Amino acid sequence: MLTFDHVYFYYKKEKPIIEDISFTIEKGEFVCIVGPNGCGKSTIAKLIDGLLMPKKGTIRIGNHHTKDPNDLMKIRQRVGFVFQYPEDQFITTSVLDEVIFGLENICVPREDMYNRALSSLKVVNMEDYLDAMPHELSGGQKQRVAVAAIIAMQPEIIIFDEATSMLDPEGRNQILAIMHQLHSEGMTIIHITHHMEEVLQADRILLVAQGKIHFDGKPAPFFQTIPVENFQLEQPFAVRLHRLSGQAVALTADWKGAIRSQWSTN
Ligand SMILES: Nc1ncnc2c1ncn2[C@@H]1O[C@H](COP(=O)(O)OP(=O)(O)OP(=O)(O)O)[C@@H](O)[C@H]1O
Ligand SMILES: [Mg+2]
Repeated sequence: MLTFDHVYFYYKKEKPIIEDISFTIEKGEFVCIVGPNGCGKSTIAKLIDGLLMPKKGTIRIGNHHTKDPNDLMKIRQRVGFVFQYPEDQFITTSVLDEVIFGLENICVPREDMYNRALSSLKVVNMEDYLDAMPHELSGGQKQRVAVAAIIAMQPEIIIFDEATSMLDPEGRNQILAIMHQLHSEGMTIIHITHHMEEVLQADRILLVAQGKIHFDGKPAPFFQTIPVENFQLEQPFAVRLHRLSGQAVALTADWKGAIRSQWSTN
């Protein structure tokens, strides 16, 4: 459904960012993209949306190519973006207008706008704030309004680029719950994050580093095989606990063995 086919990208020729990356994300997948700072995660997100063009290779959403100017508008309607700082995107003075503004841009009939905006704000639990000033909301509320504005446009794919990174645990959990709800309804979710706790529930993890995909698969083999610390990432608490309890068992076993050998020598 979304395909990167031998994609190369650089901003400056002498510093390649993406070098021969190929992958396909199917409709309805929940994919996390992880990797160290500056490895090119946001660049990949911008390539998906056609904000950047590959230097070599192709990117397709369904049958649409990002390089085809006639397809670009259709691609932008199919892909929604949620960023780290929602306020950078706010341009109106009320929550309702913020969601409606996006609908005006894609020429939704006026009589449908209000209902579409209201039902999107209900999904993110912000229907009681229609007249509130977007800039005066809490960080978590702002991010939920940004998500509602995207949902209202009915994209097929939503890319969350570090959308949870500035939020407190409660705000983060609310956004994650919304992501999983949208996913359960069939939306394709691409979640770019540094928080390893958040990738445990993904269908799939793409680890990007040094211009390549270093891992493409499920969370369990990811944490079993990848030394995440080498990629400036941390093991999730659950995995650390599991390892520690494994070490504790091993230590206990050693201790028992040591006592046994003590007995057998005496
Ligand atoms: N507009 C630009 N012009 C030149 N270089 C850029 C530009 N945008 C990003 N870069 C560089 O490209 C590399 C990849 O950047 P990108 O933002 O994609 O990384 P990232 O994986 O999203 O990092 P982070 O985890 O910090 O968000 C970095 O070295 C960055 O400095
Ligand atoms: Mg980034």
